[in-house]
Amino acid sequence: MKLTDEEKRILDGERGEPMQKAMEMLATLGEIYGAEKTVPINSAHVAGLSLKSHGLAGADWAEDMAKAGARVCVPTTMNVIGVDRSRDLGLPKDWCHNQMRIEDAYECMGCFGTSSCVPYYTGVLPRFGESIAWSESSAVVFTNSVLGARDNREGGPSALAAGLIGRTPLYGFHLDENRRGDILFKVTAKLEDTADYGALGAYVGKIVGTKVPVFDGILNPCIEDLVYLGAALASSGSVAMFHAVGVTPEAPTVAAAFGGKKYDTVLITDKEIAAGKRQLTSAADPKVDYVAIGCPHFTLRQIRDVAMLLRGKKVHKDVTFWIHTNVAIKGLATQLGYRKIIEDAGAVLTQDLCTVLSIPEALGFKTLATSSPKMAFYAPGGNNLMTWYGSDKQCVDAAVRGYWDN
Ligand code: F3S
Repeated sequence: MKLTDEEKRILDGERGEPMQKAMEMLATLGEIYGAEKTVPINSAHVAGLSLKSHGLAGADWAEDMAKAGARVCVPTTMNVIGVDRSRDLGLPKDWCHNQMRIEDAYECMGCFGTSSCVPYYTGVLPRFGESIAWSESSAVVFTNSVLGARDNREGGPSALAAGLIGRTPLYGFHLDENRRGDILFKVTAKLEDTADYGALGAYVGKIVGTKVPVFDGILNPCIEDLVYLGAALASSGSVAMFHAVGVTPEAPTVAAAFGGKKYDTVLITDKEIAAGKRQLTSAADPKVDYVAIGCPHFTLRQIRDVAMLLRGKKVHKDVTFWIHTNVAIKGLATQLGYRKIIEDAGAVLTQDLCTVLSIPEALGFKTLATSSPKMAFYAPGGNNLMTWYGSDKQCVDAAVRGYWDN
């Protein structure tokens, strides 16, 4: 990869060790992926900040980087962590302490302290065509597909390195030729809510792996539908980008989405959506002791809808019900009274954390009900929780009744 004079000086250590290490990482990635040069980025988003991913050695490393003077030079946001900074949820004290060491170190490096997988709702909104370096697979697929920004599936370290240098190697989804569709999915299924979109993503992700799916027949989805579709594609597959014809900006037509490439066609009917839901369900025991929704973090609209479902009801005494969002959206939900409705019912609107990146299993839960395709995909292996998957309404009903009505 051809380096600029300034990049060479950084690599020689002229701007200190953290910058030198960051440049080494970008140069190595560029070589591996055959990038000709780097491009400037307008923002970075660093994932992998949970203590689960970082570990204690990672906490030490982050503190050392901060002490050595590492400072980001473009707007850089942090992904979800493993604790709620605003309250005690009963998680082990040493877990909370070490998680906050990581969080504090990244804030010291200049990252925003918003801790969310939907930073595009809370202040950093990439525009069409701009290059960014974001990690967090659900956010990457959203920015590429729905916003038309250009991003690879960065890891946490490479996103931080890009945030420190302000550039990223030019390869993958930064280039036009890699953004074209690979397989057409003709959708005749009726998609009624985010759980249906999540099931579609889970089903298709397994088929396409890292390829770019093109959906034809998705009609007038809301933003949340597209967020949940992308999150599911990125977890059951390793999808970084999709097109929805007539919906996403680089797919005004089927022909434009494929850009002249040949493609196969797969039909998606109600049968495939049902199969996607089965794929996300691992529980057999209808008794539910934990309900968690908001993965990706819920928007204000989703919180309002759940508050309306919970109004006047009570969560079952044997059930813990967490609704995940970030500090900004929680603030709005508090001001508008949705949080009070939720908490009067006995549920909790959590901030900063999510089930997958935290350890709710430490509280003894066994069976989870969720409307999140990503959580349903990861919780059995990552949290040792068997999972029921369905709509937000089914999850609220399960929280109130204490069992899943299959
Ligand atoms: Fe976000 Fe955590 Fe889900 S990072 S997408 S809430 S697994």
